[in-house]
Amino acid sequence: MDKIIIDGGQRLEGEVTISGAKNAALPIMAATLLAPGVFHLGNVPSLADVRTMGHVLRVLGAAVEHHDHSMTIDTTNARYHEAPYELVKTMRASVCVLGPTLARLGRARVSLPGGCAWGPRPVDFHIRAMKELGARVEIEHGYIVASTEGLRGTTMHFDTSSVGATENAMMAATLADGATVIENAAREPEIGALAEFLRAMGADVRGDGTGTVVVEGGHELHPADVEIIPDRIETGTFMVAIAMTGGDVLIRGAKLDHATAVAMKLRETGAQVSEEDGGLRVRGPVWPRAVNVTTAPYPGFPTDMQAQFMALMSIADGSSVITETIYADRFSHVPELKRLGAQIGLDRNIAVITGVRKLSGAKVMATDLRASAALILAGLVAEGETEVSRVYHIDRGYEAIEKKLAALGARITRLKQ
Ligand code: EPU
Repeated sequence: MDKIIIDGGQRLEGEVTISGAKNAALPIMAATLLAPGVFHLGNVPSLADVRTMGHVLRVLGAAVEHHDHSMTIDTTNARYHEAPYELVKTMRASVCVLGPTLARLGRARVSLPGGCAWGPRPVDFHIRAMKELGARVEIEHGYIVASTEGLRGTTMHFDTSSVGATENAMMAATLADGATVIENAAREPEIGALAEFLRAMGADVRGDGTGTVVVEGGHELHPADVEIIPDRIETGTFMVAIAMTGGDVLIRGAKLDHATAVAMKLRETGAQVSEEDGGLRVRGPVWPRAVNVTTAPYPGFPTDMQAQFMALMSIADGSSVITETIYADRFSHVPELKRLGAQIGLDRNIAVITGVRKLSGAKVMATDLRASAALILAGLVAEGETEVSRVYHIDRGYEAIEKKLAALGARITRLKQ
């Protein structure tokens, strides 16, 4: 298993280019199952999770080729309906093939994803959405087994905003008979990106970006080409890294309107964030001020940036409170940040961080993608050497993070093992 070694203390300077968004690419790849033919996807990030979704599509009968950042998916022979446990357990986002497979083939057998590193992450909303569209759904031998003679449009309401369930419902509804209204739909930019792609395929989807998405079903769908939007969480991660190191970097391809909540919080810490031709410029403060953060669905502060922001607060001037409202247990970075000298108290879903002037390098590891990113950021400012193991978590969601940081002046290398 590879390790990342960081010798802390370098200021980040220069330019970095943001890759395509993992969480936009995955549902768009699944959506290709809705129509037979050849699709071309551009700006596809080279990530372990994207490769896993490629395997899931192949198991369903599609042909998938991914070179550099271009992907071709041929769904002409996508006639199988089972996404097996061996794949789904490695990436829960595989469950987004449920809606398109059921809608196109009339049946789907998708493994339940099981637990996650930070506690239970149920898929009950996904299942309910398929039932509301008229499908029969049973849980059998660890699998969601769904079938239908034809989905019917309906009005559905999610109790909690869910990105994945909104995506599954939208995709299934495109082939349903009549209109589907999804109330309390998620508003994340990845929903907008999927809606845009479905429209390019010939679907009638409206209201994305608001809490009510309307899909007028039954239009004939056809293949389409798409460029994946830039990754707002990778953007946010670099923004925090720059702020932590007092750096000055142009983040090419980054979109401020997708990262407003993070930008506003960073400005409160004293960082400067401004739009420039081609991206976002971030200039870090000499010493960041402590600010409080509460995670919330978009456009609130993303849970996927909570760990990285905690790394920043670990070296801030003063005390801050970080409240996690999406995943109450998403704190595997806390004990590891403490090993680097951070002072953090954790009470259920609330962390109180007392900033320290210096972190000190140590061997650390994390069991979650964003937690691993937070440890790398902490390593950038820690005195001496930090060794982050279990790097495969990072490779799920960050393309060549060590190369991008090294190009900005960080002393960071990957130790292949
Ligand atoms: N929820 C349920 N039942 C469901 C679905 C969700 O109770 O059937 C709850 C969840 O437990 C959570 C809340 O609803 O408390 C929101 O979860 P959501 O369904 O929105 O999450 P997701 O679609 O499974 C996506 C991202 C995650 C990100 C969350 C929240 C993808 C592939 N994944 O997951 O990204 O944390 O939205 O924004 O889009 C990551 O990239 O590191 C990552 C984990």
